[in-house]
Amino acid sequence: MIQLKRDYQIDGIRKSCKLLAECLLRLDEEIKPGISTYDIDRLCHDFIKQHHAIPSCLGYCGYPASACVSPNEVVIHGIPSKKIILSEGDIVSVDLCITLDGYVSDSTRTYEVGKVSEDKHKLNVVTKECLDVGIAAASKKGARILDVGAAVFKKAFSEHGYGVVRDYTGHGVGFDVHEEPEVPNFIDRSFPNPRIKPGLVFAIEPMINMGSWQVDVLRDGWTVVTRDGKPACHWEHTVAMTENGLEVLTVL
Ligand code: MF3
Ligand code: CO
Repeated sequence: MIQLKRDYQIDGIRKSCKLLAECLLRLDEEIKPGISTYDIDRLCHDFIKQHHAIPSCLGYCGYPASACVSPNEVVIHGIPSKKIILSEGDIVSVDLCITLDGYVSDSTRTYEVGKVSEDKHKLNVVTKECLDVGIAAASKKGARILDVGAAVFKKAFSEHGYGVVRDYTGHGVGFDVHEEPEVPNFIDRSFPNPRIKPGLVFAIEPMINMGSWQVDVLRDGWTVVTRDGKPACHWEHTVAMTENGLEVLTVL
């Protein structure tokens, strides 16, 4: 069941989203060669706690950290580790959910560590563009959920030949980390296709692979990697449909 949010609830979700946006923006200055994915998780955890919020991923379905930190061929759900130290040329996505006064926000950015290769940079730029075209599709009058995936898929695969991950999707958010509806990044008419009505709050999150769309889960039960070992990028915003149109919440 889709839970539409009232205005005062969107106000609460918006506050949670702004705090999350600030956290991810601050990481920009911290993510440099030599930092470990554990250090990134600690920075997120400490920031969230200092602002009296809760890292919603910690303990969610048994997940062992506050942030999902996914370098290079890791698509999503990378478990932070002191042993994973980033170097010049790496890319790394940081996916974070926070709960503030009971309201959940969800956002992801992919960071470039020092100078990265042209093809990694292009993958990152195009993945961010996929998020932007997904948001634009959702903003159109009368838009439905599957319009998002149609726009993302066209940009990623039709225009650039990138692999679009099929095993994971965007989702409703606000009261919980994952709510209905699912928001796929591809076209599949077997998914429900509700109209994007005022009160709908959801996360749009293209996961785009440089090579094939296929992924595997490592034996830790979490880490999702590309099957061909090529890099992947991930960008995500929480958005809300209001009477005044679609609002991107996880921006400052
Ligand atoms: N933030 C993730 C998402 O975008 C959810 C992570 S689930 C966790 O849907 F358990 F790994 F934390
Ligand atoms: Co999400």
